[in-house]
Amino acid sequence: MSIVVTGASGQLGGLTVEALLARGVPASQIVATSRDIARIKDFADRGVVVRRADFAEPDTLAAAFEGADKLLLVSTTTVDERVANHRRAVDAAVAAGVSLVAYTSMSHAATATTVLAATHRATEEYLRERAVPAVMLRNSWYLENYTAQLPLILAGGAVAGAAGRGRISAATRADYAEAAAVVLTTDGHAGEVYELGGDEAFTLADLAAAISAATGKRITYTDLPAGELARVLAGAGLPAELAHVLVDADLGMARGELFTDSGDLRRLIGRPTTPPADAIADALR
Ligand SMILES: NC(=O)c1ccc[n+]([C@@H]2O[C@H](COP(=O)([O-])OP(=O)(O)OC[C@H]3O[C@@H](n4cnc5c(N)ncnc54)[C@H](OP(=O)(O)O)[C@@H]3O)[C@@H](O)[C@H]2O)c1
Repeated sequence: MSIVVTGASGQLGGLTVEALLARGVPASQIVATSRDIARIKDFADRGVVVRRADFAEPDTLAAAFEGADKLLLVSTTTVDERVANHRRAVDAAVAAGVSLVAYTSMSHAATATTVLAATHRATEEYLRERAVPAVMLRNSWYLENYTAQLPLILAGGAVAGAAGRGRISAATRADYAEAAAVVLTTDGHAGEVYELGGDEAFTLADLAAAISAATGKRITYTDLPAGELARVLAGAGLPAELAHVLVDADLGMARGELFTDSGDLRRLIGRPTTPPADAIADALR
């Protein structure tokens, strides 16, 4: 019996495989999947079982999930195809007879009003409809969404957004991955809904201040009307559709939809979450 991690070529899935190995799960009991197994050769070299799985090609999924006890379903990238892809993955997990699906959802997926939340809500509902034992890992934003932008922020002297004074419980991918590994290796999680987020919620103005403190440069927060932010993002080369999704997410942040004070993440990982200042300092190294 094995633990299957989908999206293992990606950042969150890859970190989860690493966290499982760090927790002592034998490599031979971990199955890492990708649409292109060449992308996860490093795991194969370390004894992890690698298999091809493309949620858009259901024929690939029976073999990929064969023998699975628990499955981490990492939400996929293309927003408009996401729900159909996830439904096929859930169907395959049911057919494989898994004892648990852990799904990487999004904060307050049942009630949040963003385009992204709608895709996660539909997936959560389908997991319930198929009556498969499941646990929802409702991740807030990644801190890396901001730290990856540091060169641009420093060049422009500003964080730009449309999140107003909304507080964001962002956490590092590594912390979310560790929580996923805990859920996959310990009992009692079926039926749970975890609202996962960092201990230190912040506004984008707080983020700008933290970047100022870390760099000694004056960085301000510029809160833009939605249409203006969409134009800025499109001007930076983002496809219009992605720009729309990101602006929509910022508006959700303004309504508090990426804030949580549940403490679920720190409880699962058994320590405080990585502070934003540490993530910023790491990214500047
Ligand atoms: N919380 C946040 O702030 C935040 C931000 C961005 C995204 N997300 C969500 O969290 C997920 C994981 O984040 P990440 O940073 O690890 O993303 P990532 O590095 O882009 O990885 C995405 C993974 O999705 C897999 N994937 C895409 N299409 C697939 C398909 N049709 N069938 C099977 N797998 C597919 C990719 O695998 P292959 O290409 O190798 O098949 C890849 O491993 C994202 O996909 C997205 O749903 C969350």
